[in-house]
Amino acid sequence: MDQPVIDHRGPEFASLTNEILELIRPVFKTSGHVVIFPSSGTGAVEAALVNTLSPGDRVLIFETGHFSQVWRGIAERLGLQVDYVPGNWRRGASETELETRLVADVNRTIKAIVVVHNETSTGVTSRIAALRTAMTRIGHPALLIVDAVSSLGSIDFRQDEWEVDVTVVGSQKGLMLPPGLGFNAVSEKALAASRDAKLPRNYWDWRPIVEQNRAGFFPYTPATNLLFALREALRLLHEEGLENVFARHDRHARATRAAVNAWGLEIVCEDPREYSSSMTAFFMPDGHNADRLRALVLDHFDMSLGVGLSKLTGKVVRIGHLGSFNDLMLAGTLSGIEMGLRLAAVPHRDGGVSAALRSLTEEIVAEQPIGQRS
Ligand SMILES: Cc1ncc(COP(=O)(O)O)c(C=O)c1O
Repeated sequence: MDQPVIDHRGPEFASLTNEILELIRPVFKTSGHVVIFPSSGTGAVEAALVNTLSPGDRVLIFETGHFSQVWRGIAERLGLQVDYVPGNWRRGASETELETRLVADVNRTIKAIVVVHNETSTGVTSRIAALRTAMTRIGHPALLIVDAVSSLGSIDFRQDEWEVDVTVVGSQKGLMLPPGLGFNAVSEKALAASRDAKLPRNYWDWRPIVEQNRAGFFPYTPATNLLFALREALRLLHEEGLENVFARHDRHARATRAAVNAWGLEIVCEDPREYSSSMTAFFMPDGHNADRLRALVLDHFDMSLGVGLSKLTGKVVRIGHLGSFNDLMLAGTLSGIEMGLRLAAVPHRDGGVSAALRSLTEEIVAEQPIGQRS
């Protein structure tokens, strides 16, 4: 991205856009449109809503944690009517609850279902395929809007197969970029809905972007240097192979859980089917504050751990293992936490790092052809 800015109305820029749009579709596993905004993820959240809905529309949002709360706040401030499906912040969206709610909606007044795929505040990944199956079984026409901010490019995501109508993403997580780009992957059904949607929009309007993208341009000055970086990041993901990228994160997540379990601490996610491969959150024992541990780790080892958000403030530590990440980075991360636990006098058992290293190496051995095992 450290290159001179090029003319965003010139031919070199058009080929940059075309290459990015070609490379990004397979990352969403879609053949549809991917709209790119110069924005944070929150901008892309707003864009998903204002392009598809009208004032007063009913939207079902699953409470999964801090980020579902963010969605709720934005939707309400935009004048939407939110049905907030309560959750305990330890589980993902429930397909049986969705089914019950949709069956009860006899007049089909629910216009959209919003699910945070990977709840970054808790390390819980909702099973989108199961939710889509429930919607199909009932034949409910609501749009399915999914926040994949902390899953895309780290955890398998299938826009077309799961019939997701709008996927919301930011640049700073699995896409390995600095903050500053927001994405909406848009189905034909969502694009059709946008023709009738009455919420006011200008900057976030998909239509001029989709139109100008056809020739390789944007309706306003794009974040050119971030787009240079995006092209490179997409090339990296394809070079490694998406399935290998997902397997790498799955493996790091397993090793992280091995460490947390060995410490005798409690993982926030309650359902093993919903363990996140991009981040793991664990609870601090009662009477111990996560922010004190985080401050000690930052002071002594210059490592910044994820803060507990909203009602989890001070209660949980979040370990990020997404994006550009390898075995030794994980080993360093877990070592910093284990030393921090000791410094903060948090009751725990020794051996978390060893358990993680064992998990990492056992998997390498298991993958080697039998003749090559030592
Ligand atoms: C799941 C999720 N949704 C939305 C957002 C908001 O994105 P941003 O902070 O880029 O506006 C985040 C940010 O971390 C997130 O993790």
